Amino acid sequence: MDVLSVASEAYPLIKTGGLADVAGALPGALRAEGVAMRTLLPGYLAITEALVSAEVVLRWDDLFGGAAHLLAASLHGLDLFVLDAPHLYARPGNIYLGPDGRDWPDNALRFAALARVGAWLAQGRLPSWRPAVVHAHDWQAALLPAYLHYDGGRPIGSVLTVHNLAFQGVFPPSLLPALGLPPESFALDGVEYFGAIGFLKAGLLFADRITTVSPTYAAEIRTPADGMALDGLLRGRGAAVSGILNGIDTGIWNPATDPLLPAHYDATRLEARARNRAEVQFRFSLAAGETAPLFAVVSRLTGQKGMDLLLAALPVLLAEGGQLAVLGAGDPAIERGFRDAATAHPGRIGCFVGYDEGLAHLVQGGTDALLVPSRFEPCGLTQLCALRYGAVPVVARVGGLADTVIDASPMALAAGVATGVQFAPVTAEMLEAAIRRAAALRRQPQTWQRMQRNGMATDVSWRDPARRYAALYRELAG
Ligand code: ADP
Ligand code: GLC
Repeated sequence: MDVLSVASEAYPLIKTGGLADVAGALPGALRAEGVAMRTLLPGYLAITEALVSAEVVLRWDDLFGGAAHLLAASLHGLDLFVLDAPHLYARPGNIYLGPDGRDWPDNALRFAALARVGAWLAQGRLPSWRPAVVHAHDWQAALLPAYLHYDGGRPIGSVLTVHNLAFQGVFPPSLLPALGLPPESFALDGVEYFGAIGFLKAGLLFADRITTVSPTYAAEIRTPADGMALDGLLRGRGAAVSGILNGIDTGIWNPATDPLLPAHYDATRLEARARNRAEVQFRFSLAAGETAPLFAVVSRLTGQKGMDLLLAALPVLLAEGGQLAVLGAGDPAIERGFRDAATAHPGRIGCFVGYDEGLAHLVQGGTDALLVPSRFEPCGLTQLCALRYGAVPVVARVGGLADTVIDASPMALAAGVATGVQFAPVTAEMLEAAIRRAAALRRQPQTWQRMQRNGMATDVSWRDPARRYAALYRELAG
């Protein structure tokens, strides 16, 4: 079965967050399920410059304001369509933000073009390749089902996956003609959203199926508290909404072979982690030694991720004798907060502001515990990496974090099934309590190692999720 995936990023070509990991890994995982997925991506410089050979399969003299080509190519094991539209994508810097740190002013056109071309491909514009189902990701691709609806062409099943409901793609109504949408689409039962054009809203309305990346997040976003104004619409879609957990690429994330780790190990050789742990301490300028519980963060440094709560909880972490290694980038005030904390507590708190894939692997392979105090978390991938690498996740009980970590409650400990520590509600006080609990558990080496081994035995691969997506596609394809 041929499936078209449409996304604004895909690892290892271009990545700002977990969306890229998912869009990059799903096609490989689906192959075992008999699904041949091709991925349509914007022709950012990072992608067009990486293409070794590509075939032009479609051309436009004027696609949303400039000439464009659709390229077909294969790269890093991904079968791609690349929308080569230099007026939209050939610019340096971040794929979403201009040099001033604000959204590119033409983001509506940039991502509507992606969805527009995706819808044409879905409808069979290429005689040689007609997918059975189209799968769009997040607001950047969410207009696709709306185009399908208003085009009224060949019927094709569509799936929209919500990776983060907080990013909704809301733009001025005056853009309607430029986006190629008919006047009647500006209505409650169309793309209109609080007087503006809502890309995500439109996708949630018109996609045949909506998935999000964990069952708990699928339930949360149907409540007023977490629905970010879209809960009513989501409730209205009833059984069309479901949650499918993400996996991680267990070939890349394998502590027994990971070339980015100084020492390799598995669940039977946990003591080998000590070398990685020492390397983490060294790289983050933390005092050497095995006594202090080593906590770490690998994250965007934002409010969503609860990083301000962690700043507030630092005195407790230090009082517990803990160390903290922070790898992340994001909100300047939070970055400054961790930098200042590292200066104030040399040897106890270390911080690397930036994005570093290699360091992320090292941290997961060496830290005792990984902190993920997110206020909301659609799925979260770093706690899955932590489980796989024997780093004990300490997480807020929300979204995918709730679904993937088994809290060390007295009952779970007695049953020998705990994999981490959860806390709720998501406040600094409850995070402090969770840090205290983790530190106490680490003082019981047998219990701690049991948790590490349980985590490492958890299936965090794409196998089960891929099976679920394939079943969904089959259902839609009839
Ligand atoms: P989100 O997509 O909301 O940022 P996820 O946990 O789903 O959160 O995915 C984040 C991905 O980005 C993971 O693969 C994680 O390892 C990676 N990551 C986040 N911050 C950094 C960083 N500073 N350096 C390296 N990798 C990072
Ligand atoms: C988003 C979410 C994150 C999820 C990722 C991949 O970035 O914030 O929780 O893991 O998408 O689905």
